[in-house]
Amino acid sequence: MASGSGNEEGNTEGVSWRLIGPASELSKKRCRLMYSSLGYDSDVCLFYVKGEFFAMDARCSHSGGPLCEGDIEEADGVLQVFCPWHDYDFDLRTGKSGTSLQEAGSFGCRLQRGANGNSHSLMQSNHALLSDGGGSTD
Ligand code: FES
Repeated sequence: MASGSGNEEGNTEGVSWRLIGPASELSKKRCRLMYSSLGYDSDVCLFYVKGEFFAMDARCSHSGGPLCEGDIEEADGVLQVFCPWHDYDFDLRTGKSGTSLQEAGSFGCRLQRGANGNSHSLMQSNHALLSDGGGSTD
């Protein structure tokens, strides 16, 4: 489980990074809802798809649908999540929607090599403290 402590930070290229947990654990679910210390509107979906992590706003910019519960499809090499409420799509990498909706906020993710050189932890560029709220397992 993600520690959620978020007390390890870094700053590279003007982006603040926060440790959110071990990649080996976070990669066990296709999507995790990460609760934000800033409140409901700042919660984040952490996706693990095709060996990559992606993070974006947890709720759809249309009417707040739960993006963590959306279907994920790849078209022309672009991974998209489809909101379960009205089926609008959002690019997992950029947060942009093909429907001219306001894009979902997306956040960078990066892996940090562990001290032993083997284990990795996931860093994320959202500035809030995040804690694991569970999510889809498929
Ligand atoms: S709430 Fe997501 S498409 Fe309407």
